[in-house]
Amino acid sequence: ANALGAAAAGSGRYFGTAVASGRLGDSTYSTVLDREFTMVTPENEMKWDTVEPSRGSFNFAPGDAIVNHATAHGQRMRGHTLVWHSQLPSWVGSIGDASTLRGVMDNHITTEMNHYKGRIYAWDVVNEAFADDGSGRHRSSVFQNVLGDGFIEEAFRTARNTDPSAKLCYNDYNIENWSDAKTQGVYRMVKDFKSRGVPIDCVGFQSHFGAGGPPASFQTTLSNFAALGVDVQLTELDIAQASATAYTNTVKACLAVTHCTGITVWGIRDSDSWRTGENPLLFDNNGNPKPAYNAVLTTLNTA
Ligand code: G3I
Repeated sequence: ANALGAAAAGSGRYFGTAVASGRLGDSTYSTVLDREFTMVTPENEMKWDTVEPSRGSFNFAPGDAIVNHATAHGQRMRGHTLVWHSQLPSWVGSIGDASTLRGVMDNHITTEMNHYKGRIYAWDVVNEAFADDGSGRHRSSVFQNVLGDGFIEEAFRTARNTDPSAKLCYNDYNIENWSDAKTQGVYRMVKDFKSRGVPIDCVGFQSHFGAGGPPASFQTTLSNFAALGVDVQLTELDIAQASATAYTNTVKACLAVTHCTGITVWGIRDSDSWRTGENPLLFDNNGNPKPAYNAVLTTLNTA
């Protein structure tokens, strides 16, 4: 196949990208998007600060623009993200009463998921809830501090009840290296959820890598999580300087794991990336494929 999505489909996988609604009118951007990608994640448009900027007041217009584009071009959607400590409006952060916050969180999840019901393949239900401090524990956030450890389970149960046909994912960064305390913390949570019947279907490994690419243990990490009975996905891939080797190693790790169901890069052209100056993506600023693009395409085609 001569496009990323078509090549990934050869082994039953998808190849996606983050999309910014404000760029859909750029024809260079949309041409590459619709030629190459079979899965779309809104880069910011489904986050709490956009969707519910004040309590009970919902704005789905930017997210709808992306979903409508994807539908028109046969692309599936990953929903990103329902519960996250960042890009959270200050009115949520100032709630100190547990029953109020629980009600607000559940209402946000049900309202957003109901709006998009039937149009989202997988939701990042909870994003980045684990700490970076080597403790393997949850990070401090209004959800953690007011509701306690149970907030993640509560969010997943609410999500399952709202849209039973959507896959429910936990998504995080720096959980690609098997021996890291953060990886182990997330692994323990997924294992616990599976053992107690808390609904979880997938784990998203953001995969924001340095120039060296993935850690040597990446494939081990993916297969160990998959062995718990969840799908694994690379959800926000970008690699500083985008060497062909680093991208190839990343894609190979996913292809080697049966339940690694797809890969999403976090933007199309280098100029679309949040990592300004790092040129971490597969297309240059003019929308032309870089050497890493050819390496990824070849790797996907040999799976
Ligand atoms: O839309 C406003 C605009 O109105 C305003 O004038 C401008 C001034 O700063 O800001 C614009 O909002 C920016 C928004 O992107 C849209 O461009 C925010 O400042 C900026 O902080 C925001 O950055 C996003 C970042 O998440 C926020 O945490 C990036 O685009 C987005 O790529 C990034 O994505 C995250 C994932 O969701 C989770 N994992 C990490 C990943 C990278 O940080």
